[in-house]
Amino acid sequence: MSSRVVVKLENVTKRFGDVVAVNNISFEVYRGELFSLLGPSGCGKTTTLRIIAGLEQPDEGRVYIEGVDVTKMPARERKVCLVFQEYAVFPHMSVYENIAFGLKVKKLPKAEIDKKVKEAAEILELSSYLNYKGGRLGLSEQQRVAIARCLVVEPKLLLLDEPLTLVDAKVRERMRRELKRIQRELETTMIYVTHDQLEALMLSDRVAVMRSGRIVQMGTPEEIYDNPKDLFVATFVGSPTMNLVEGVLELEENKLVLKTPSYKYILSKEVESNIIQSLLGSEVVVGFRPEDAEVRNDGVLEGTVKLIEIVEDRKILHIKINEDEVRVFVDLLAPFTEGQKVKIRINPLKLHIFEKKTGRKLLKGVVSG
Ligand SMILES: Nc1ncnc2c1ncn2[C@@H]1O[C@H](COP(=O)(O)OP(=O)(O)OP(=O)(O)O)[C@@H](O)[C@H]1O
Ligand SMILES: [Mg+2]
Repeated sequence: MSSRVVVKLENVTKRFGDVVAVNNISFEVYRGELFSLLGPSGCGKTTTLRIIAGLEQPDEGRVYIEGVDVTKMPARERKVCLVFQEYAVFPHMSVYENIAFGLKVKKLPKAEIDKKVKEAAEILELSSYLNYKGGRLGLSEQQRVAIARCLVVEPKLLLLDEPLTLVDAKVRERMRRELKRIQRELETTMIYVTHDQLEALMLSDRVAVMRSGRIVQMGTPEEIYDNPKDLFVATFVGSPTMNLVEGVLELEENKLVLKTPSYKYILSKEVESNIIQSLLGSEVVVGFRPEDAEVRNDGVLEGTVKLIEIVEDRKILHIKINEDEVRVFVDLLAPFTEGQKVKIRINPLKLHIFEKKTGRKLLKGVVSG
């Protein structure tokens, strides 16, 4: 095993009675990496973290930390620290005592404890809070205390389970940045669990998307976003979600056409027929992200603006095209009105074509024109 690998899971399965919480998953996390497990509630994220921490025994498979098989090793010997969603900062202890907790348990000399606590407090910007009682802290400080308490024991691996779900949106954004800064500064290897796709995309070096106990796709945030492997990943990641239109693909005079029960859509003016030959006639779901379509006079799809939404510095037009409704981003100041007829053009390189039956991606962006 490469020395770059800090943790490795090999075909790990965990059952609770009839529930397969984690179903044959394998992955490696590299030194200094921020790796996220992303997925909806109940998909097995926490169970995976607990298995790595040693709080749960897998039924099958092996766990390695720095090349050592730790599958049977007790949690306290693993040098792994897990920060739970509820930070569990001791309310009656001072911040100093909270951070020092693990070091006192280890019976380190007082002077050494003092040095480590102050160093960690400095990094996490907690120096001025050292005498505060845990119970008096805001959520941001509590989170930092929980992380500082982990960092002082110098874990090989820091595991964070949805650490930001309890804080409100504004604070969460700042804490996200702080967390990344700390991770980069200390070169900590970190596994971050979240169900928030945006958070995973913003923070991570790599993301593993989980569904029903399995990893469905693993890659950089760009790969996950630009090249989702199936409909689940395509629609779970990205906000607003990818536009989807169901139908059957056909080729008419070199144009790629999507035929739905009541309408035909020309998706592209020209297409290299050999590329999609095998897809013709199959039931598909065509997807494109709201930023990959443009409203323009030479667009091939015509529709009516039903609703205009302002999201931060852009507008989203909800456009009704025949039976379907799609969302397209336009500039904030673009002068559209509800009820207006518009034409849109989808960037053919950004068309995702999925098999309807399985959700599997069949093709992306090899359509020209
Ligand atoms: N101790 C347990 N006993 C029984 N079932 C469990 C136990 N822990 C987890 N499960 C079940 O295993 C599955 C995965 O749970 P897990 O907590 O790992 O999901 P999660 O992805 O962390 O979800 P959430 O986003 O809600 O925290 C769920 O169906 C859950 O009900
Ligand atoms: Mg969980």
